[in-house]
Order: sequence, then C-alpha cells, then structure tokens
Amino acid sequence: MEQTYLMIKPDGVQRGLIGRIVARLEDKGFKLVAGKLISVTEEQAKKHYAEHEGKDFFPELVRFITSGPVFAMVWEGDDVVSLSRIMIGKTKVGEALPGTIRGDFASHTPLNLIHGSDSLESAKREIANFFAPAELVDYTKDIAAWM
Ligand code: PPS
Repeated sequence: MEQTYLMIKPDGVQRGLIGRIVARLEDKGFKLVAGKLISVTEEQAKKHYAEHEGKDFFPELVRFITSGPVFAMVWEGDDVVSLSRIMIGKTKVGEALPGTIRGDFASHTPLNLIHGSDSLESAKREIANFFAPAELVDYTKDIAAWM
C-alpha cells in the first residue's frame, strides 16, 4: 500500500488547523500510520528541501519550517501521494481552488499550511528523515469491528 509524508507547517499548527486537516484526510478514507508534533531541526529542514538548495527562497524555506512546531504524519492508501496533493491544492494560494486545504484555509503565499510528498521516491526519503521505522504503526482499519 502506498504511503506519503504530510506535514502541517508552523502556520497550520499556530492557527489550530491540525484537527480539521486530519479530519479531511480521514474522511477521504486514508489511514494514519504515524503522527507527531515536532520541532524540525535545521539539518532535517535542509535535507527535506535539498532539491531547492540554491534557489533564492531556500533560506526562507528553512527558516519558516524551523520557526515553530510542525505536525509530521505518514498516511497510507491507494494513490495517496497524488490524491493527497490534489486535496492540498496548488502551492500559490491564489491558484489553490476552493475545496482544497490551501484553497479553503490559506490566504498568503508562502504560508500554505501543509507539505505533501510529490512522488513515491520523495515520500520514502521524507518519511525516513522524520520517522524511525518503529514509529510507523502496522494495523488494520476495520470500522465494522467497532460498531
Ligand atoms: S519549484 O521551484 O517550482 O520547484 O518550487 P515549488 O514546488 O513551487 O515550491 C517548493 C517549496 O517551496 C515553497 N516556496 C516558498 N517558500 C518560501 N518562500 C517562497 N517564495 C516560496 N516559493 C515556494 C513551497 O511552498 C514548497 O514547499 P512545500 O513544503 O513543498 O509545500
């Protein structure tokens, strides 16, 4: 089953949006397999955004993601990498459509609330940057058993 790394950024945590964002992903049917509130270290931030090193906004990217706690998560599901990015919406908030997380909650680029891996390869690398393998919980989501 496909897994992706999603991270509610410092603006999302400060605005109290963790619950509402997690609810959307649960409503969609994805399975949460790991989640924690953390302070991203400079080393983790530089590794996470390594592909953007050299771009003019790289220092701002690192500064922003280390500026306050983030909520780091691993989600599982069919096509979860691409589908969660559709749910997140476009990077620039002016282009993020209503119904997407950024379209509904973000009003100022680059305070765009949430990061989502852009490929399976990125997801694997990003999950390993923020989680130890033992932190990923292996369980079956069996709603009928709880009714
Ligand atoms: S690129 O150049 O097209 O690959 O960049 P993009 O995919 O649009 O954005 C990559 C991440 O950089 C963030 N971003 C910025 N941060 C701070 N300042 C500026 N100006 C800026 N422009 C883009 C953008 O939100 C992406 O972060 P993540 O965490 O992946 O969403």
